[in-house]
Amino acid sequence: MSEPQAGKLWGGRFGAELDPALHRFTASFPFDRRLVRHDLVGSLAHARMLAEVGLLDGQDARAVLEGLAGILRDVEEGRLAADGPEEDVHTWIERVLHERIGEAAGRLHTARSRNDQVSTALRLCVRGCLRELVEGVVALQEVWVEQAADHLQTWMPGYTHLQRAQPVSLAHHLLAHAWALNADARRLQQVYHHAGLSVLGAGALAGSSLPIRPDRTAYWLGFTALFPNSLYAVSDRDYVLETAFGAAMVLVHLSRWAEEVVLWTSAEFGFAELADSVAKGSSLMPQKKNPEVAELIRAKAGRGLAALAGLLAVLKGLPLSYNSDLQEDKEMLFDVLDTAAGCVDAARCLAGGVRYRPDRMRQALQGGYLTATDLAEYLVRRGVPFRTAHHQAGRAVREAESRGCELWELPLEVLRSCCPQADSDVYGALQPEGAGAARRSWGGPAPERVAEQLEAIRRELETTRAWLQAASQPPIYTAYREGRLLEGL
Ligand code: ARG
Repeated sequence: MSEPQAGKLWGGRFGAELDPALHRFTASFPFDRRLVRHDLVGSLAHARMLAEVGLLDGQDARAVLEGLAGILRDVEEGRLAADGPEEDVHTWIERVLHERIGEAAGRLHTARSRNDQVSTALRLCVRGCLRELVEGVVALQEVWVEQAADHLQTWMPGYTHLQRAQPVSLAHHLLAHAWALNADARRLQQVYHHAGLSVLGAGALAGSSLPIRPDRTAYWLGFTALFPNSLYAVSDRDYVLETAFGAAMVLVHLSRWAEEVVLWTSAEFGFAELADSVAKGSSLMPQKKNPEVAELIRAKAGRGLAALAGLLAVLKGLPLSYNSDLQEDKEMLFDVLDTAAGCVDAARCLAGGVRYRPDRMRQALQGGYLTATDLAEYLVRRGVPFRTAHHQAGRAVREAESRGCELWELPLEVLRSCCPQADSDVYGALQPEGAGAARRSWGGPAPERVAEQLEAIRRELETTRAWLQAASQPPIYTAYREGRLLEGL
Protein backbone atom coordinates (compact mmCIF):
# COMPACT_ATOMS: atom_id res chain seq x y z
CA MET A 1 0.00 0.00 0.00
CA SER A 2 1.28 3.44 -0.88
CA GLU A 3 1.93 6.01 1.87
CA PRO A 4 0.36 9.50 1.70
CA GLN A 5 2.65 11.86 -0.16
CA ALA A 6 3.62 15.31 1.06
CA GLY A 7 2.39 18.04 -1.28
CA LYS A 8 -0.57 16.00 -2.38
CA LEU A 9 -3.86 15.99 -0.50
CA TRP A 10 -5.30 12.84 -1.99
CA GLY A 11 -3.98 9.88 -3.96
CA GLY A 12 -5.40 6.85 -2.24
CA ARG A 13 -7.99 6.30 -4.90
CA PHE A 14 -6.05 7.70 -7.88
CA GLY A 15 -3.87 5.69 -10.24
CA ALA A 16 -2.52 8.55 -12.35
CA GLU A 17 -1.38 12.14 -11.94
CA LEU A 18 -3.62 15.01 -12.98
CA ASP A 19 -2.83 16.28 -16.47
CA PRO A 20 -0.34 19.17 -16.01
CA ALA A 21 -2.44 21.54 -18.13
CA LEU A 22 -5.41 20.84 -15.91
CA HIS A 23 -3.30 21.22 -12.82
CA ARG A 24 -2.46 24.72 -14.03
CA PHE A 25 -6.06 25.36 -14.98
CA THR A 26 -7.46 24.35 -11.61
CA ALA A 27 -4.69 25.77 -9.43
CA SER A 28 -5.45 28.77 -7.24
CA PHE A 29 -1.96 29.16 -5.78
CA PRO A 30 -1.04 32.10 -8.07
CA PHE A 31 -3.69 34.22 -6.35
CA ASP A 32 -4.50 32.54 -3.04
CA ARG A 33 -0.89 32.80 -1.85
CA ARG A 34 -2.12 36.11 -0.54
CA LEU A 35 -3.99 34.14 2.14
CA VAL A 36 -0.83 32.52 3.48
CA ARG A 37 -0.72 34.35 6.82
CA HIS A 38 -4.45 34.09 7.32
CA ASP A 39 -4.46 30.39 6.56
CA LEU A 40 -1.65 29.87 9.05
CA VAL A 41 -3.61 31.77 11.70
CA GLY A 42 -6.70 29.65 10.93
CA SER A 43 -4.58 26.52 11.20
CA LEU A 44 -3.14 27.62 14.53
CA ALA A 45 -6.69 28.03 15.89
CA HIS A 46 -7.71 24.65 14.52
CA ALA A 47 -4.66 22.92 15.97
CA ARG A 48 -5.16 24.59 19.32
CA MET A 49 -8.78 23.34 19.39
CA LEU A 50 -7.70 19.82 18.40
CA ALA A 51 -5.24 19.88 21.29
CA GLU A 52 -7.85 21.18 23.73
CA VAL A 53 -10.27 18.35 22.95
CA GLY A 54 -7.52 15.72 22.97
CA LEU A 55 -7.45 14.98 19.24
CA LEU A 56 -3.82 16.07 19.28
CA ASP A 57 -1.77 14.71 22.16
CA GLY A 58 0.73 16.88 24.00
CA GLN A 59 3.69 15.98 21.84
CA ASP A 60 1.89 16.36 18.49
CA ALA A 61 0.20 19.56 19.66
CA ARG A 62 3.58 21.08 20.45
CA ALA A 63 5.03 19.93 17.12
CA VAL A 64 2.11 21.21 15.05
CA LEU A 65 1.63 24.53 16.87
CA GLU A 66 5.32 25.32 16.97
CA GLY A 67 5.74 24.15 13.39
CA LEU A 68 2.94 26.42 12.16
CA ALA A 69 4.24 29.31 14.27
CA GLY A 70 7.70 28.83 12.75
CA ILE A 71 6.28 28.99 9.22
CA LEU A 72 4.24 32.07 10.10
CA ARG A 73 7.31 33.75 11.59
CA ASP A 74 9.40 32.96 8.53
CA VAL A 75 6.70 34.27 6.21
CA GLU A 76 6.20 37.45 8.26
CA GLU A 77 9.91 38.12 8.44
CA GLY A 78 10.40 37.54 4.73
CA ARG A 79 12.51 34.40 5.01
CA LEU A 80 9.92 32.19 3.34
CA ALA A 81 7.63 32.91 0.40
CA ALA A 82 4.53 30.93 -0.50
CA ASP A 83 5.64 29.44 -3.78
CA GLY A 84 5.82 26.01 -5.30
CA PRO A 85 4.14 23.49 -7.55
CA GLU A 86 1.18 23.02 -5.20
CA GLU A 87 -2.34 23.71 -6.38
CA ASP A 88 -3.14 26.11 -3.58
CA VAL A 89 -1.76 27.80 -0.51
CA HIS A 90 -3.38 25.31 1.86
CA THR A 91 -1.56 22.41 0.22
CA TRP A 92 1.70 24.35 0.29
CA ILE A 93 1.43 25.00 4.02
CA GLU A 94 0.75 21.35 4.73
CA ARG A 95 3.75 20.33 2.63
CA VAL A 96 6.09 22.79 4.37
CA LEU A 97 4.78 21.69 7.76
CA HIS A 98 5.41 18.09 6.84
CA GLU A 99 8.97 18.91 5.79
CA ARG A 100 9.56 20.62 9.10
CA ILE A 101 7.87 18.35 11.64
CA GLY A 102 7.33 15.08 9.83
CA GLU A 103 4.40 12.78 10.40
CA ALA A 104 2.64 14.89 13.06
CA ALA A 105 1.75 17.30 10.22
CA GLY A 106 -0.68 14.69 8.96
CA ARG A 107 -2.84 15.23 12.05
CA LEU A 108 -3.50 18.92 11.44
CA HIS A 109 -6.22 18.29 8.88
CA THR A 110 -8.25 16.17 11.32
CA ALA A 111 -11.95 17.09 11.06
CA ARG A 112 -11.15 19.87 8.63
CA SER A 113 -11.69 20.32 4.90
CA ARG A 114 -10.29 22.92 2.60
CA ASN A 115 -13.90 23.99 2.22
CA ASP A 116 -14.21 25.31 5.75
CA GLN A 117 -10.51 26.17 5.81
CA VAL A 118 -10.51 28.41 2.74
CA SER A 119 -13.51 30.42 3.85
CA THR A 120 -11.93 30.88 7.27
CA ALA A 121 -8.73 32.24 5.75
CA LEU A 122 -10.67 34.45 3.38
CA ARG A 123 -12.79 35.84 6.21
CA LEU A 124 -9.65 36.72 8.17
CA CYS A 125 -8.13 38.32 5.09
CA VAL A 126 -11.30 40.27 4.28
CA ARG A 127 -11.48 41.60 7.83
CA GLY A 128 -7.93 42.91 7.59
CA CYS A 129 -8.64 44.55 4.22
CA LEU A 130 -11.85 46.12 5.53
CA ARG A 131 -10.00 47.61 8.47
CA GLU A 132 -7.42 49.14 6.13
CA LEU A 133 -10.08 50.43 3.78
CA VAL A 134 -11.93 52.11 6.64
CA GLU A 135 -8.64 53.69 7.73
CA GLY A 136 -8.16 55.10 4.24
CA VAL A 137 -11.73 56.36 4.07
CA VAL A 138 -11.36 58.20 7.37
CA ALA A 139 -8.11 59.83 6.23
CA LEU A 140 -9.84 61.13 3.09
CA GLN A 141 -12.86 62.35 5.03
CA GLU A 142 -10.51 64.29 7.30
CA VAL A 143 -9.09 66.23 4.35
CA TRP A 144 -12.55 67.33 3.21
CA VAL A 145 -13.69 68.10 6.74
CA GLU A 146 -10.67 70.34 7.39
CA GLN A 147 -11.16 72.13 4.07
CA ALA A 148 -14.84 72.57 4.84
CA ALA A 149 -13.97 74.27 8.13
CA ASP A 150 -12.23 77.01 6.13
CA HIS A 151 -15.10 77.61 3.71
CA LEU A 152 -18.30 78.08 5.67
CA GLN A 153 -18.71 81.49 4.04
CA THR A 154 -17.43 80.63 0.57
CA TRP A 155 -20.56 80.82 -1.55
CA MET A 156 -20.96 79.04 -4.84
CA PRO A 157 -23.78 77.72 -6.98
CA GLY A 158 -25.25 74.37 -5.98
CA TYR A 159 -26.33 72.37 -9.02
CA THR A 160 -29.18 70.14 -10.08
CA HIS A 161 -29.10 68.67 -13.59
CA LEU A 162 -25.65 70.32 -13.73
CA GLN A 163 -27.51 73.63 -14.03
CA ARG A 164 -26.95 76.34 -11.45
CA ALA A 165 -29.70 75.92 -8.89
CA GLN A 166 -29.29 77.64 -5.51
CA PRO A 167 -26.42 79.13 -3.52
CA VAL A 168 -24.60 76.77 -1.20
CA SER A 169 -21.28 77.10 0.58
CA LEU A 170 -18.19 75.21 -0.46
CA ALA A 171 -18.20 73.72 3.05
CA HIS A 172 -21.74 72.42 2.52
CA HIS A 173 -20.65 70.85 -0.77
CA LEU A 174 -17.47 69.23 0.58
CA LEU A 175 -19.29 67.83 3.58
CA ALA A 176 -21.85 66.21 1.28
CA HIS A 177 -19.01 64.06 -0.07
CA ALA A 178 -17.68 63.43 3.43
CA TRP A 179 -21.12 62.21 4.57
CA ALA A 180 -21.36 59.81 1.64
CA LEU A 181 -18.05 58.27 2.69
CA ASN A 182 -19.28 58.19 6.24
CA ALA A 183 -22.08 55.89 5.14
CA ASP A 184 -19.37 53.77 3.49
CA ALA A 185 -17.29 53.59 6.65
CA ARG A 186 -20.33 52.45 8.60
CA ARG A 187 -21.30 49.93 5.96
CA LEU A 188 -17.78 48.48 5.90
CA GLN A 189 -17.90 48.08 9.68
CA GLN A 190 -21.14 46.12 9.30
CA VAL A 191 -19.55 43.91 6.67
CA TYR A 192 -16.58 43.37 8.99
CA HIS A 193 -19.06 42.11 11.55
CA HIS A 194 -20.76 39.79 9.05
CA ALA A 195 -17.40 38.45 7.87
CA GLY A 196 -16.76 37.36 11.46
CA LEU A 197 -18.91 34.25 11.16
CA SER A 198 -16.78 31.28 12.15
CA VAL A 199 -17.18 28.37 9.73
CA LEU A 200 -14.27 26.18 10.82
CA GLY A 201 -15.69 22.89 12.03
CA ALA A 202 -18.20 22.59 9.19
CA GLY A 203 -15.80 20.18 7.51
CA ALA A 204 -16.35 19.49 3.83
CA LEU A 205 -20.08 20.07 4.27
CA ALA A 206 -21.32 17.72 6.99
CA GLY A 207 -19.29 18.33 10.11
CA SER A 208 -17.42 15.51 11.79
CA SER A 209 -17.92 12.42 13.91
CA LEU A 210 -14.97 13.49 16.05
CA PRO A 211 -15.50 15.49 19.27
CA ILE A 212 -14.49 18.88 17.84
CA ARG A 213 -15.35 22.24 19.47
CA PRO A 214 -16.04 24.82 16.73
CA ASP A 215 -16.91 27.31 19.45
CA ARG A 216 -13.30 27.13 20.66
CA THR A 217 -11.97 27.80 17.14
CA ALA A 218 -14.38 30.71 16.83
CA TYR A 219 -13.07 32.08 20.12
CA TRP A 220 -9.43 31.75 19.09
CA LEU A 221 -10.11 33.52 15.79
CA GLY A 222 -11.90 36.42 17.47
CA PHE A 223 -14.98 35.76 15.36
CA THR A 224 -18.35 37.09 16.43
CA ALA A 225 -20.67 34.19 15.64
CA LEU A 226 -20.63 30.46 15.03
CA PHE A 227 -22.10 28.78 11.93
CA PRO A 228 -25.57 27.40 12.62
CA ASN A 229 -25.48 24.78 9.83
CA SER A 230 -22.48 23.13 8.23
CA LEU A 231 -23.89 23.12 4.68
CA TYR A 232 -24.65 26.80 4.93
CA ALA A 233 -21.22 27.46 6.41
CA VAL A 234 -19.20 26.13 3.48
CA SER A 235 -21.60 27.55 0.86
CA ASP A 236 -21.79 31.06 2.22
CA ARG A 237 -20.01 33.82 0.32
CA ASP A 238 -22.34 36.63 1.34
CA TYR A 239 -19.43 38.32 3.09
CA VAL A 240 -17.50 38.30 -0.20
CA LEU A 241 -20.41 39.93 -2.02
CA GLU A 242 -21.01 42.42 0.77
CA THR A 243 -17.34 43.33 0.86
CA ALA A 244 -17.30 43.79 -2.90
CA PHE A 245 -20.43 45.90 -2.67
CA GLY A 246 -19.00 48.01 0.15
CA ALA A 247 -15.80 48.59 -1.78
CA ALA A 248 -17.66 49.25 -5.04
CA MET A 249 -19.83 51.78 -3.24
CA VAL A 250 -16.72 53.62 -2.07
CA LEU A 251 -15.51 53.64 -5.66
CA VAL A 252 -18.82 54.97 -6.93
CA HIS A 253 -18.73 57.78 -4.37
CA LEU A 254 -15.15 58.62 -5.28
CA SER A 255 -16.00 58.64 -8.97
CA ARG A 256 -18.71 61.23 -8.41
CA TRP A 257 -16.30 63.47 -6.55
CA ALA A 258 -13.57 62.83 -9.13
CA GLU A 259 -15.91 63.89 -11.91
CA GLU A 260 -16.41 67.19 -10.12
CA VAL A 261 -12.65 67.66 -9.83
CA VAL A 262 -12.44 67.22 -13.60
CA LEU A 263 -15.27 69.70 -14.14
CA TRP A 264 -14.14 72.24 -11.56
CA THR A 265 -10.55 72.36 -12.86
CA SER A 266 -11.71 72.99 -16.44
CA ALA A 267 -11.46 76.56 -17.72
CA GLU A 268 -15.22 76.44 -18.19
CA PHE A 269 -15.86 76.06 -14.46
CA GLY A 270 -12.59 77.32 -13.05
CA PHE A 271 -13.69 76.61 -9.46
CA ALA A 272 -10.39 74.95 -8.62
CA GLU A 273 -6.83 74.45 -9.72
CA LEU A 274 -4.57 71.52 -9.09
CA ALA A 275 -1.24 71.75 -7.30
CA ASP A 276 1.56 70.63 -9.61
CA SER A 277 2.15 67.61 -7.40
CA VAL A 278 -1.28 66.17 -8.23
CA ALA A 279 -1.58 67.10 -11.93
CA LYS A 280 -0.04 65.65 -15.06
CA GLY A 281 1.05 67.21 -18.34
CA SER A 282 0.81 66.47 -22.04
CA SER A 283 3.64 65.05 -24.15
CA LEU A 284 2.63 67.33 -27.00
CA MET A 285 0.78 70.38 -25.69
CA PRO A 286 3.12 72.32 -23.41
CA GLN A 287 0.37 74.32 -21.73
CA LYS A 288 -1.73 71.36 -20.53
CA LYS A 289 -2.35 70.49 -16.91
CA ASN A 290 -4.55 67.42 -16.74
CA PRO A 291 -6.62 66.02 -13.86
CA GLU A 292 -5.50 62.49 -14.70
CA VAL A 293 -5.69 61.19 -11.15
CA ALA A 294 -9.35 62.18 -11.00
CA GLU A 295 -10.02 60.62 -14.39
CA LEU A 296 -8.48 57.33 -13.31
CA ILE A 297 -10.45 57.30 -10.07
CA ARG A 298 -13.57 57.86 -12.18
CA ALA A 299 -12.66 54.96 -14.45
CA LYS A 300 -11.62 52.55 -11.75
CA ALA A 301 -15.14 52.60 -10.36
CA GLY A 302 -16.12 50.76 -13.53
CA ARG A 303 -13.58 48.10 -12.75
CA GLY A 304 -14.88 47.70 -9.22
CA LEU A 305 -18.44 47.37 -10.47
CA ALA A 306 -17.33 44.72 -12.94
CA ALA A 307 -15.86 42.69 -10.08
CA LEU A 308 -19.06 42.99 -8.07
CA ALA A 309 -21.20 41.95 -11.04
CA GLY A 310 -18.80 39.08 -11.77
CA LEU A 311 -18.99 37.80 -8.21
CA LEU A 312 -22.77 37.91 -8.19
CA ALA A 313 -22.77 35.99 -11.46
CA VAL A 314 -20.46 33.30 -10.06
CA LEU A 315 -22.74 32.75 -7.07
CA LYS A 316 -25.98 32.78 -9.00
CA GLY A 317 -27.59 29.35 -9.37
CA LEU A 318 -24.89 27.44 -7.45
CA PRO A 319 -26.29 24.36 -5.74
CA LEU A 320 -25.26 23.59 -2.17
CA SER A 321 -22.69 23.35 -0.86
CA TYR A 322 -19.04 23.82 -1.83
CA ASN A 323 -18.42 23.96 -5.58
CA SER A 324 -15.16 24.75 -7.36
CA ASP A 325 -16.91 27.83 -8.69
CA LEU A 326 -16.29 29.32 -5.26
CA GLN A 327 -12.57 29.35 -6.00
CA GLU A 328 -13.33 32.07 -8.56
CA ASP A 329 -14.31 34.47 -5.79
CA LYS A 330 -10.81 35.50 -4.84
CA GLU A 331 -9.35 37.33 -7.81
CA MET A 332 -12.39 39.54 -8.30
CA LEU A 333 -12.68 40.19 -4.57
CA PHE A 334 -9.01 41.11 -4.27
CA ASP A 335 -9.27 43.27 -7.35
CA VAL A 336 -12.13 45.37 -6.08
CA LEU A 337 -10.52 45.65 -2.63
CA ASP A 338 -7.16 46.69 -4.07
CA THR A 339 -8.81 49.09 -6.49
CA ALA A 340 -10.79 50.71 -3.70
CA ALA A 341 -7.76 50.97 -1.41
CA GLY A 342 -5.65 52.48 -4.21
CA CYS A 343 -8.35 54.97 -5.17
CA VAL A 344 -8.98 56.06 -1.60
CA ASP A 345 -5.28 56.81 -1.10
CA ALA A 346 -4.99 58.59 -4.44
CA ALA A 347 -8.13 60.58 -3.67
CA ARG A 348 -6.72 61.70 -0.32
CA CYS A 349 -3.57 62.86 -2.02
CA LEU A 350 -5.50 64.59 -4.80
CA ALA A 351 -7.99 66.23 -2.44
CA GLY A 352 -5.09 67.79 -0.54
CA GLY A 353 -3.85 69.34 -3.80
CA VAL A 354 -7.12 70.95 -4.89
CA ARG A 355 -6.82 74.76 -4.66
CA TYR A 356 -10.28 76.29 -4.58
CA ARG A 357 -11.07 79.57 -6.34
CA PRO A 358 -13.70 81.40 -4.23
CA ASP A 359 -13.51 84.35 -6.64
CA ARG A 360 -14.64 82.17 -9.55
CA MET A 361 -17.33 80.59 -7.43
CA ARG A 362 -18.63 84.03 -6.52
CA GLN A 363 -18.69 85.06 -10.18
CA ALA A 364 -20.72 81.97 -10.99
CA LEU A 365 -23.42 83.19 -8.61
CA GLN A 366 -24.22 85.91 -11.13
CA GLY A 367 -26.54 85.53 -14.04
CA GLY A 368 -28.26 82.30 -13.08
CA TYR A 369 -31.08 83.83 -11.00
CA LEU A 370 -30.10 81.47 -8.21
CA THR A 371 -32.22 83.33 -5.67
CA ALA A 372 -35.53 83.08 -7.51
CA THR A 373 -36.63 80.43 -4.99
CA ASP A 374 -35.68 82.79 -2.18
CA LEU A 375 -37.88 85.46 -3.74
CA ALA A 376 -40.77 82.98 -3.83
CA GLU A 377 -40.12 82.05 -0.18
CA TYR A 378 -40.04 85.75 0.73
CA LEU A 379 -43.50 86.07 -0.81
CA VAL A 380 -44.69 82.95 1.05
CA ARG A 381 -43.62 84.65 4.29
CA ARG A 382 -45.94 87.49 3.25
CA GLY A 383 -48.88 85.13 2.90
CA VAL A 384 -48.74 84.35 -0.82
CA PRO A 385 -49.50 80.66 -1.64
CA PHE A 386 -46.32 78.96 -2.86
CA ARG A 387 -47.66 78.16 -6.34
CA THR A 388 -48.60 81.82 -6.88
CA ALA A 389 -45.31 82.97 -5.43
CA HIS A 390 -43.44 80.59 -7.77
CA HIS A 391 -45.30 82.07 -10.72
CA GLN A 392 -44.67 85.67 -9.64
CA ALA A 393 -40.96 85.05 -9.02
CA GLY A 394 -40.76 83.42 -12.45
CA ARG A 395 -42.15 86.60 -13.97
CA ALA A 396 -39.51 88.62 -12.12
CA VAL A 397 -36.83 86.35 -13.60
CA ARG A 398 -38.23 86.93 -17.06
CA GLU A 399 -38.24 90.66 -16.47
CA ALA A 400 -34.61 90.64 -15.28
CA GLU A 401 -33.64 88.46 -18.22
CA SER A 402 -35.20 90.84 -20.72
CA ARG A 403 -33.37 93.76 -19.07
CA GLY A 404 -30.12 91.82 -18.90
CA CYS A 405 -29.79 92.40 -15.15
CA GLU A 406 -29.80 90.49 -11.88
CA LEU A 407 -32.91 90.04 -9.76
CA TRP A 408 -31.48 92.37 -7.14
CA GLU A 409 -30.91 95.05 -9.80
CA LEU A 410 -34.62 95.31 -10.65
CA PRO A 411 -36.12 98.57 -9.39
CA LEU A 412 -38.70 98.02 -6.65
CA GLU A 413 -41.62 99.19 -8.82
CA VAL A 414 -40.69 96.67 -11.52
CA LEU A 415 -40.39 93.92 -8.92
CA ARG A 416 -43.75 94.91 -7.50
CA SER A 417 -45.35 94.76 -10.93
CA CYS A 418 -44.51 91.03 -10.89
CA CYS A 419 -44.74 90.41 -7.14
CA PRO A 420 -47.24 92.84 -5.59
CA GLN A 421 -46.38 91.79 -2.01
CA ALA A 422 -42.69 92.73 -2.40
CA ASP A 423 -41.30 95.52 -0.24
CA SER A 424 -37.92 97.23 -0.04
CA ASP A 425 -36.67 94.50 2.35
CA VAL A 426 -36.97 92.02 -0.52
CA TYR A 427 -33.43 92.82 -1.63
CA GLY A 428 -32.00 91.00 1.38
CA ALA A 429 -33.51 87.79 0.03
CA LEU A 430 -32.13 88.33 -3.47
CA GLN A 431 -28.39 88.56 -2.76
CA PRO A 432 -26.85 85.07 -3.11
CA GLU A 433 -24.76 85.28 0.08
CA GLY A 434 -27.69 86.49 2.16
CA ALA A 435 -29.98 83.96 0.55
CA GLY A 436 -27.61 81.09 1.32
CA ALA A 437 -27.16 82.27 4.89
CA ALA A 438 -30.94 82.46 5.34
CA ARG A 439 -31.40 78.79 4.44
CA ARG A 440 -31.26 77.74 8.05
CA SER A 441 -33.45 74.67 7.74
CA TRP A 442 -32.09 71.38 9.04
CA GLY A 443 -29.01 70.24 7.10
CA GLY A 444 -29.02 73.39 5.01
CA PRO A 445 -26.21 75.70 3.83
CA ALA A 446 -26.51 78.44 6.48
CA PRO A 447 -23.10 78.69 8.18
CA GLU A 448 -24.53 77.81 11.60
CA ARG A 449 -26.18 74.68 10.13
CA VAL A 450 -22.98 73.66 8.33
CA ALA A 451 -21.04 74.21 11.55
CA GLU A 452 -23.39 71.68 13.17
CA GLN A 453 -22.82 69.25 10.30
CA LEU A 454 -19.09 69.73 10.74
CA GLU A 455 -19.32 68.97 14.43
CA ALA A 456 -21.51 65.93 13.79
CA ILE A 457 -19.16 64.45 11.23
CA ARG A 458 -16.19 65.00 13.51
CA ARG A 459 -18.02 62.94 16.11
CA GLU A 460 -18.59 60.27 13.46
CA LEU A 461 -14.88 60.26 12.64
CA GLU A 462 -14.06 59.80 16.31
CA THR A 463 -16.44 56.84 16.52
CA THR A 464 -14.85 55.24 13.48
CA ARG A 465 -11.36 55.80 14.88
CA ALA A 466 -12.45 54.18 18.14
CA TRP A 467 -13.78 51.22 16.15
CA LEU A 468 -10.46 50.91 14.35
CA GLN A 469 -8.66 50.86 17.69
CA ALA A 470 -10.99 48.21 19.05
CA ALA A 471 -10.94 45.94 15.96
CA SER A 472 -8.13 43.88 17.38
CA GLN A 473 -6.11 40.86 16.30
CA PRO A 474 -7.51 37.33 16.82
CA PRO A 475 -6.58 35.91 20.26
CA ILE A 476 -4.66 33.07 18.58
CA TYR A 477 -2.48 35.61 16.78
CA THR A 478 -1.77 37.44 20.03
CA ALA A 479 -0.94 34.10 21.67
CA TYR A 480 1.46 33.39 18.80
CA ARG A 481 3.13 36.80 19.13
CA GLU A 482 3.48 36.38 22.87
CA GLY A 483 4.68 32.77 22.73
CA ARG A 484 1.61 31.47 24.57
CA LEU A 485 0.26 28.99 22.00
CA LEU A 486 0.69 26.04 24.34
CA GLU A 487 -0.50 27.83 27.46
CA GLY A 488 -2.90 25.74 29.57
CA LEU A 489 -2.73 22.67 27.37
N1 ARG B 1 -8.50 26.20 -3.66
C1 ARG B 1 -9.86 26.07 -3.31
C2 ARG B 1 -10.55 27.42 -3.19
O1 ARG B 1 -9.91 28.40 -3.32
C3 ARG B 1 -10.00 25.30 -2.06
C4 ARG B 1 -10.20 23.85 -2.27
C5 ARG B 1 -11.56 23.43 -2.02
N2 ARG B 1 -11.81 22.00 -1.91
C6 ARG B 1 -11.87 21.11 -2.90
N3 ARG B 1 -12.16 19.92 -2.66
N4 ARG B 1 -11.63 21.43 -4.12
O2 ARG B 1 -11.74 27.53 -3.00
